[in-house]
Amino acid sequence: MEWERIRKRPEDRLGANLADYDEYARTFSWAQARAELDGLPGGGLNIAHEAIDRHILAGRGNKLALRWIGRNDELRDFSYAGLGAAANRFANVLAERGVSKGDRVFSLLGRVPELYAAALGTLKRACVFSPLFSAFGPEPIKARMAIGNAKVLLTTEAFYRRKVEPWRQELASLEHVFLIDCSNNLPPGTTDLGAVMAAASDSFETVWTGPEDMALLHFTSGTTGRPKGAVHVHEAVVAHHMTGRLALDLHADDIFWCTADPGWITGTSYGIIAPLTNGATLIVDQAEFDAERWYRILQEQKVAIWYTAPTAIRMLMKVGAEIAKRYDLSKLRFMASVGEPLNPEGVVWGVEAFGKPFHDNWWQTETGGIMIANYPSMDVKPGSMGRPLPGITAGIIERTAGEVREIARPMAMGELALRPGWPSMMRGYLNEEERYKKCFASGWYLTGDLAMRDSDGYYWFVGRSDDVIKSAGHLIGPFEVESALMEHPAVAEVGVIGVPDPTAGEVVKAFVALKNGIDPTEALRKNLLGHARQRLGPAVAPKDIAFRQNLPKTRSGKIMRRLLKARELGLPEGDISTLESEER
Ligand code: WT7
Repeated sequence: MEWERIRKRPEDRLGANLADYDEYARTFSWAQARAELDGLPGGGLNIAHEAIDRHILAGRGNKLALRWIGRNDELRDFSYAGLGAAANRFANVLAERGVSKGDRVFSLLGRVPELYAAALGTLKRACVFSPLFSAFGPEPIKARMAIGNAKVLLTTEAFYRRKVEPWRQELASLEHVFLIDCSNNLPPGTTDLGAVMAAASDSFETVWTGPEDMALLHFTSGTTGRPKGAVHVHEAVVAHHMTGRLALDLHADDIFWCTADPGWITGTSYGIIAPLTNGATLIVDQAEFDAERWYRILQEQKVAIWYTAPTAIRMLMKVGAEIAKRYDLSKLRFMASVGEPLNPEGVVWGVEAFGKPFHDNWWQTETGGIMIANYPSMDVKPGSMGRPLPGITAGIIERTAGEVREIARPMAMGELALRPGWPSMMRGYLNEEERYKKCFASGWYLTGDLAMRDSDGYYWFVGRSDDVIKSAGHLIGPFEVESALMEHPAVAEVGVIGVPDPTAGEVVKAFVALKNGIDPTEALRKNLLGHARQRLGPAVAPKDIAFRQNLPKTRSGKIMRRLLKARELGLPEGDISTLESEER
């Protein structure tokens, strides 16, 4: 079906940061963007300085930086000065313990105020911040902290006891564990964060960092192998700031709500950094999704800009547009979405429920910030991710026998590629030079996504070119799931794929072949699901497991996930010339 273009009116341009896409794109330069930030003396640059300190120095310290809404509706407000003071206390806690430049500070927390103070304090101390998703189980946590050489962990007592304590002795680099929500009976080797924060000074001078100093470590997953730690540097703040202005239309004084969890990069780049560098007020809700609650927050907090995800939009659609209309959402100016394909129905439903469309945008952990977007001033074509940000050159490319060719023909499908050079591009996968190098060819960064570009320059997402799974906006590596299942004594082989789901986009499904003589009973299936959930956590574990006698494999013994998927979905099996006979 053809979806009608949603036309923007002249008043949509009025006051928009990006009033005229073509004009802006033509004149844009990253050097100019950098000049909008302050920097540190001697050419230094520090994300936390741009997010907090420069506002305080300019006399804007009393402005509301962050309003936290607790699970039970209690509110806690932090001005820029207040958030800065909390960040300083954390920086001092690190300094007092000799945690210094380049050291890795991990967090495993829900959306609590301490997380925001710690992220900024870590950056002020010139350490590297690496947030983990709190719905990860012990294995994904351990794998990431080991790769990242974690020195400090910030978590709750409950998470610590369940997800970290059992293996802590195996991670020699981990020297300090700070706990919130803790009892009087602290586990050995941990410190009550509240107590040491209260005792620390609330002034701290940011340790000098240069633009290329490492600031953030965000983990992502590939088809094979362990998770990859994408390295981001302080210069990324130039892109966070500009993309926040242009793609999210952030203005100083805007009330901005990003619903992403800070355990994933959206929740850091746009859930912490971009709104603060732009002088906005950030809304943070501790609770999980709930349609009525969300509408209430939009209304009561007078949210102007809302950045959410397709899974959430689909959950709101299920509840119906009528509910949205019961709320006064007149302050809501711009709605954006990211993380997974946003169906055209979702874009158009925005108009029905809110009187304005959702604006889809596209990026990745590796790109550090938004690369392709729909803007307030530009017509929306429902189903399209929009056009590249000013300063970003995108292309559709074809890889053939070691050669990379750009395809200029409109609506030709190929791999989405970007010309490297923007400030928030990853500087590497930590200690994985080979995997990093594989992302580049002929001067392009290859995204691993398949897409098309139409004759107006709008990009259309087609799918992933690899086996990575996107469930509820979260990227899941099949190998990590397979490895956890392989540890179970009954399991001989596993293949993991994503299967379509009307709400979450995809859900994880595992196909398991059991060892000889073991019966595929329902009890065992449940046991395996429990095993995976316990190790991987609910965010990563499969929702479904099916037993198979054999799994399709190549002659070299690799499980053909592509074929498992084709069979599951009733699609053509494609090229199966490498398939080993399955009747062994
Ligand atoms: C992958 C990146 C979302 C940024 C932070 C998470 C998919 C992202 C869209 C979109 C269709 C999208 C891609 C991409 N994706 N945005 N608007 N439409 N797919 O990044 O976890 O590294 O995931 O998410 O496949 O490569 P990430």
